Amino acid sequence: MIQILLPVLLIIVVYLFLNIHQKYHKSKINLPPGSFGWPLLGETLALLRAYWDGVPERFIQERVDKHGSPLVFKTSLLGEHMAVLCGPAGNKFLFGNENKLVAVWWPLPVSKLFGRSLITTRGDEAKWMRKMLLSYLGPDAFATHYASTMDVVTRRHIDLHWRGKKEVKVFQTVKLYAFELACRLFMSLEEPSHIEKLGSLFNIFMKGILELPINLPGTRFYSANKAAAAIRKELMIIIKERRVELKEGKTSSSQDLLSHLLTSSDENGRYLTEKDIANNILLLLFAGHDTSTVTITLLIKSLGEHPDVYEKVLKEQLEISKAKEVGELLKWDDIQRMRYSWNVVSEVMRLNPPTTGAFREALVDIEYAGYTIPKGWKIYWSAASTHKDESNFEDVTRFDPSRFEGAGPTPFTYVPFGGGPRMCLGKEFSRLEILAFLHNIVTNFKWDLLIPDEKIEYDPMATPVKGLPIRLHPHHV
Ligand code: HEM
Repeated sequence: MIQILLPVLLIIVVYLFLNIHQKYHKSKINLPPGSFGWPLLGETLALLRAYWDGVPERFIQERVDKHGSPLVFKTSLLGEHMAVLCGPAGNKFLFGNENKLVAVWWPLPVSKLFGRSLITTRGDEAKWMRKMLLSYLGPDAFATHYASTMDVVTRRHIDLHWRGKKEVKVFQTVKLYAFELACRLFMSLEEPSHIEKLGSLFNIFMKGILELPINLPGTRFYSANKAAAAIRKELMIIIKERRVELKEGKTSSSQDLLSHLLTSSDENGRYLTEKDIANNILLLLFAGHDTSTVTITLLIKSLGEHPDVYEKVLKEQLEISKAKEVGELLKWDDIQRMRYSWNVVSEVMRLNPPTTGAFREALVDIEYAGYTIPKGWKIYWSAASTHKDESNFEDVTRFDPSRFEGAGPTPFTYVPFGGGPRMCLGKEFSRLEILAFLHNIVTNFKWDLLIPDEKIEYDPMATPVKGLPIRLHPHHV
């Protein structure tokens, strides 16, 4: 008996000692000001309310004012103790300390649903995976080669879903475009029924991403998990078929992302496994299609609200068309010339950043702005609140693309794609996608917004509540 009791007693004593020691140690730590809110829920509901009201920056602004600490405050979100680092100083600190003081962190459902992929790896393994993916998606490879493919897909989409229509619901239609485009460029999928099948699985998958990870029948997370398994199964079939086609010389290594990843190794001859490829394609479909959908939708809204800006964009795009042969596709050089148009897109993303912010985890106790952020705490940075701060942008709510002329905004005040080693991997992809779409839409149509001042709600990305219905007016040439 004593042989059993002694170790148990010892464990209890050690546990109590560590607990008391930790509490004593923590009580001496100068934590940032703020509140952990309700047990378990923390301040998550206040954050969600700000999102639903279409003002995600409100959560941070209210707490900065309340706690009188403009650089950092503590809170509790998604069941985690969290420090929120505010403004350009916080962004600079986090982007500059990846893998040193902090590392990327995603809420549990995200890491569970994606499996081993870029966003669930850290350190050298993440660096390696990023390098492998960037060899296709980076500015040198992707942007210079794929402008014309983007243009082909965009033209076909506009012919099918916009031409001949009097009215269009922008959000749903653009979502279809972004998904089709990603399926085409990542895997050369073109068969509409195949894309539709993947698309509906994908919609179920997306609904589980911000849910509690309870894997029981009836929960959204359970359905998302099942959908993720079905998508992975489908991707594995596509991957195996492609490997055979490559072996038989029926397709080239530059055909799309999939062929590229199957045939490219690093300098040590290491390849991504088929499972890694499937998980990363799932990730890219997720990271890429809603962000671009939201940006294009809000771009169309802003151009409908600002006819003077629309006219200037149209002028720039017509100059590009006029310099080309009839039917000639867009090239990389043409995209480079769309300067004013990109400034307009940038202003849209300033006012409604498609990704409102992201998380990190403290790898050590961090000293910041006179406070300590304990090791293991999660940290949040916010594009939404940085972009909507009057001290970073004068007349902050005014739509004004000229802010991006010349040297543009001060470093770390404009961060729609994040920064540092974890900066968005799809920046070039989305620039090309958005500008190819913009070129084709303004050179074909003008439009009226059917619901003036349609409310934008964040769920979790900015979405017009009625899907942005518009009336189309084709240009007569
Ligand atoms: C307007 C469009 C887009 C915006 C605003 C956007 C924004 C962002 C932001 C802010 C991050 C950084 C998150 C962090 O700091 O942890 C990020 C990461 C990422 N984005 Fe994008 N994104 C866009 C489009 C895309 C597209 C089209 C793709 C894929 C083709 C993509 C793939 C990724 C990936 C894989 C990451 C994770 C990078 C890593 O952890 O190393 N994004 N994106």
